[in-house]
Amino acid sequence: MPLAGKRILLVISGGIAAYKSLDLIRRLRERGAKVRPVMTAGACEFVTPLAVGALSAGHVYTDLFSREDEQDVGHIRLARDCDLIVIAPATANLMAKMANGLADDLASTVLLATDRPVLLAPAMNPKMWAHPATRRNVETLRKDGLSFIGPNAGEMAEGGEAGFGRMAEPLEIVAALEALLDGGKKPLAGRTAIVTSGPTHEPIDPVRYIANRSSGRQGHAIAAALARLGAKVTLVSGPVTLPDPSGVTVVEVERADDMLQAVLAALPADIAVMVAAVADWRVATPNAEKIKKQPGEGPPPLMLTENPDILKTVGHHAKRPKVVVGFAAETQDVESNGRVKLQKKGADLIVANDVSPETGIMGGTRNSVKLITAAGIEEWPELSKEEVAGRLADWIAEKLT
Ligand SMILES: Cc1cc2nc3c(=O)[nH]c(=O)nc-3n(C[C@H](O)[C@H](O)[C@H](O)COP(=O)(O)O)c2cc1C
Repeated sequence: MPLAGKRILLVISGGIAAYKSLDLIRRLRERGAKVRPVMTAGACEFVTPLAVGALSAGHVYTDLFSREDEQDVGHIRLARDCDLIVIAPATANLMAKMANGLADDLASTVLLATDRPVLLAPAMNPKMWAHPATRRNVETLRKDGLSFIGPNAGEMAEGGEAGFGRMAEPLEIVAALEALLDGGKKPLAGRTAIVTSGPTHEPIDPVRYIANRSSGRQGHAIAAALARLGAKVTLVSGPVTLPDPSGVTVVEVERADDMLQAVLAALPADIAVMVAAVADWRVATPNAEKIKKQPGEGPPPLMLTENPDILKTVGHHAKRPKVVVGFAAETQDVESNGRVKLQKKGADLIVANDVSPETGIMGGTRNSVKLITAAGIEEWPELSKEEVAGRLADWIAEKLT
């Protein structure tokens, strides 16, 4: 969690994309970051300081000549009292001021006074982005060592116009911030990965289903860890209540069959990490209508049939990824079952964990795993699921390079 405990100064300038910065605040805070907002006068025309303050749970800074905030030269404090600065959206106007060293309001003054890393998420009309003046300013800011995320191509808010100018999505900005904090270690840059996560829900009828206790925490953490190392990750997730990991494409599915189709659609890939707790069986013919209790008839019989084996399918596929990792959730004979799985499924690594209820692993926040490869078994101490994810991503990066 590279953003946990980090102090982020968020500068919001006056573009229509300012509404997305409200979601950005939420995304940053759910990752444990502290967000201090600075708004230009333009930004206050698009979103209210009240909404920004409520979401960031703190003071919103808008005025350079504020008697209250400047008692201790507040603009210098804002400029230094943070781990990094993100400008989202960054208007053409604010970038022009920064490129020329202007400091005529609180935001531009703070940006001139800071020595912290700065990330810009520009957003503007495509003609403004393409204008030679903006091109020059972007070039100057890049040379000054500032980082950019986006803009993306797409439809503009003003109808009928399309092109480069849409602000990057909040989760992309979060991923870029995490990458800045990570210092740019990207051994998986240019690699693609598929990760499955969470449980599957196998319908009995339109309202009932067979499920399991998987929370998706481990799979989601692995997707995030691979993305942090630079991989382009597709996360195929069963029903979970977790936020989408940053910088990852999420495909939501319910049933094992849908999960298999989504995984196959994401091939070819360099890496496959199959973490989802896929139901082994499904109801052969789910009822089209809700099954009614019939007096005197007793419970309905449920005929089960086998689900596809997603790990085995990927492990033996013509487009088999270079590294295939499977998870084995076992309640007995963890090591020997893991070894058998390695062979049968065509995997390079089985991460075996004991999910007996007393371990608290299934649905919990920590994990204790054994790594089973053709070369032998390695046991890791009990770690948080994020730590397991980080170590596993490093293991995969090493295997590929
Ligand atoms: C409806 C509307 C939408 C605007 N959207 C943008 C935008 O997306 N990007 C941009 O650079 N400027 C946009 N502008 C122009 C800026 O608001 C204007 O340049 C302003 O001076 C920016 O001030 P600031 O950089 O101090 O926030 C928009 C203006 C209006 C009226």
